[in-house]
Amino acid sequence: MRILVSGATGFMGGTIARHLLEAGHDVRAMSRSTGNAMRSFAGHQPGRQALAEGRLTFIEADVTRPSTLNAAVENVEVVVQAVQFAGAPIEDPARNLTYAAVDRDGTRNLLAALVQVYGMPVAGGMPARFPNDAPRVVYMSGITASPDSPYSWDRAKWEAEEAVRASGLIWTIVRGCWAYGPQDVALNRIIHYSDWLPFVPIFGDGNETLTPLFVEDVGRFYALLLADLEKSRDTLLGLGGPDLVTLNEFLRLALDAMGRRRPILHIPKPLGKVQGALLQHFPGRPLSPAAVDFVSQGGVVSPAQRQLLEERFPEFQVTPARHALSSYLGT
Ligand SMILES: NC(=O)c1ccc[n+]([C@@H]2O[C@H](COP(=O)([O-])OP(=O)(O)OC[C@H]3O[C@@H](n4cnc5c(N)ncnc54)[C@H](OP(=O)(O)O)[C@@H]3O)[C@@H](O)[C@H]2O)c1
Repeated sequence: MRILVSGATGFMGGTIARHLLEAGHDVRAMSRSTGNAMRSFAGHQPGRQALAEGRLTFIEADVTRPSTLNAAVENVEVVVQAVQFAGAPIEDPARNLTYAAVDRDGTRNLLAALVQVYGMPVAGGMPARFPNDAPRVVYMSGITASPDSPYSWDRAKWEAEEAVRASGLIWTIVRGCWAYGPQDVALNRIIHYSDWLPFVPIFGDGNETLTPLFVEDVGRFYALLLADLEKSRDTLLGLGGPDLVTLNEFLRLALDAMGRRRPILHIPKPLGKVQGALLQHFPGRPLSPAAVDFVSQGGVVSPAQRQLLEERFPEFQVTPARHALSSYLGT
């Protein structure tokens, strides 16, 4: 299939695109910088091979700039949307780097481009109509997406989902849990404090629950999903790992995999927010109060979501955290 992957240089989108290439699909990798995208795909064998075979192409586009998007969505069968603003989860409204601007409005802009390129005329106010062979949309959402969450990211994800559901296109929404892997910028940052500190600091008590998801499982899952999109037609899926753990337990598993013993230092969240309130005014905005909430929020896949996934994709096996962590952190 011909697939546009937005966020193709990112942690999730990059892994998804690599697995889709391995599965033999044609991928158009979208990035705000073709140079970046080329470098990132030249870094692995599936990318190099697909490039040599003409199955990998690049498109420079920005979801906040609608004029760049029509060319990106032309002549594809599937649009995989996995964009996230630079610097997430630390929003920077002055530079339009927010969940609302990039994730929600960016998704709306991408859908508007699909309407412009494939839509058929309809009376005002009606949802767009599309020919049967219009691209399908697969949107990467988050497990805590919700319309009435106190958090901007959950509301933005929900509103992006709503736009996808109302688009008139055939859709699949995947609500992913916190994902980890060799290139992640969250778990790696925390555990690598242990390279130079005698403890590992986190915000809060670390008792929030998670079903952490190995990023390679995300890639394998998308390959399965795109092998038969009818199985997830107009369906919301929750994707999480097999372990139900607290953040403290997960960090201990990761440190075990590294062969390290370190106490976890719990920084009270109010103190973290004071730090965030100061640091958000520093160059590069290293922290913000909302980011403290983001990193200590937790989020689990529900039993009903697990069951639906098992029914639709019985062949899909998620990797236990201990096994996944030792595959790249093991000494
Ligand atoms: N990471 C997780 O644990 C996790 C869990 C659940 C759901 N998700 C969701 O998965 C999606 C991707 O997250 P991620 O962790 O992979 O993020 P990431 O590593 O930060 O990657 C972000 C991607 O978005 C692209 N991008 C940024 N701004 C853009 C813009 N204005 N226009 C077009 N592309 C833009 C970046 O490409 P360039 O910089 O090359 O343009 C990059 O490829 C997000 O929707 C996130 O909410 C992530």
